[in-house]
Amino acid sequence: MLSDTSLPVIKATLPVVGEHIEEIAKRFYKHMFDARPDLLDGLFNRGNQADGRQQQALAGSIAAFAGLLVDNVDQVPDHLLSRVAHKHVSLGLSPDQYQIVHDHLMWAIVDVLGDAVTPDVAAAWDEVYWLMANMLINKERGLYNAVHLTPDTIWRTWRVAERIQETDDVVRFVVERIDEREVKPSLPGQYVTIKMAMHDGVHQPRQYSLTKADDGQHRQFAVKRVHGLETPDGEMSTLLHNEVQVGDEVVLSAPFGDVVLEYTDRPLVLASAGIGITPMAGMLSHLVKSGSQRQVMLLHADDSEASFPLRGQVRRTWPP
Ligand SMILES: Cc1cc2nc3c(=O)[nH]c(=O)nc-3n(C[C@H](O)[C@H](O)[C@H](O)COP(=O)(O)OP(=O)(O)OC[C@H]3O[C@@H](n4cnc5c(N)ncnc54)[C@H](O)[C@@H]3O)c2cc1C
Ligand code: HEM
Repeated sequence: MLSDTSLPVIKATLPVVGEHIEEIAKRFYKHMFDARPDLLDGLFNRGNQADGRQQQALAGSIAAFAGLLVDNVDQVPDHLLSRVAHKHVSLGLSPDQYQIVHDHLMWAIVDVLGDAVTPDVAAAWDEVYWLMANMLINKERGLYNAVHLTPDTIWRTWRVAERIQETDDVVRFVVERIDEREVKPSLPGQYVTIKMAMHDGVHQPRQYSLTKADDGQHRQFAVKRVHGLETPDGEMSTLLHNEVQVGDEVVLSAPFGDVVLEYTDRPLVLASAGIGITPMAGMLSHLVKSGSQRQVMLLHADDSEASFPLRGQVRRTWPP
């Protein structure tokens, strides 16, 4: 996969890139957002920018990929690609945006490693980037095609039909369709991205698992209020809790996500804690709807019965 010319160069520079990946990631994002502040309006999660570990995910995964290539592993594990591709398409990423990330990431590598980045080194890392980018672009094209959508058409406006206070800090929203477009079916365990304008006018996306099987008219999701202790309160969850009321309109992506229930008859164990019940509730709802006879054990941990979100739904629907 990696050319014979690039392989020894990547082998030789991987340790130094790995060692500086945190700094590379930091400078990459700063440089990119200085040049393209529009990417923080509706695409990147600005809460993640305050979190160094999350910031590292993108650049770090390219270094990890280079490691796989050097170890002669022909294939990137599909579940890694899949997870990223699903996240990307749930945000409406388009292939042309890969050039932007490329340019700023390569700039950051040169900025941090300086003269060590000879033309050969730059060319080898370029090759690594585009190998991974092309795999993702292909996978993402497949995901868009499978649901007959494009980066622009994944978004759709829904109206809040119900808002149910599940527990002290979890609200469940039921939204209803307001147009005639086909409602894309969801697989058990998938999520949608919600995109909303924050108080300063900047749009922010966040993912929420679907908690109910499709009925062709509605979607449901449940949101836990994120309290910051020494950090700010969560932006989206606070806005949804404090301000979004019945009758308001919200913009959601089509459903995506690769951690989904397989259609088999095998016994199933679902384990969750706190708000982690949301995809499990969605899966159970799908099983009930399809008349599944599977043996299911749900293990859920919570502080108390009162703090167990969706307890009513889970208890009512299962066993069917
Ligand atoms: C696939 C998927 C499914 C999900 N499903 C659900 C679900 O069903 N229900 C659910 O409730 N959530 C779910 N989530 C989580 C959800 O997407 C959001 O991450 C969550 O609601 C928090 O978003 P927020 O905007 O409220 O918080 P953010 O504003 O994104 O803040 C997140 C954290 O960063 C900290 N932070 C923010 N700014 C700063 C700063 N400047 N300095 C230091 N720290 C800072 C905050 O204090 C907070 O702890 C899911 C996430 C994924 C990826
Ligand atoms: C080869 C190129 C790329 C790689 C290897 C990559 C890798 C990743 C990884 C590992 C994640 C975290 C996934 C998760 O949390 O589940 C991620 C998330 C994300 N990626 Fe990419 N990515 C690439 C290109 C791009 C491009 C071109 C864009 C858009 C300009 C982009 C935008 C995002 C966004 C918005 C997120 C969500 C996280 C956040 O908002 O902070 N990525 N990517």
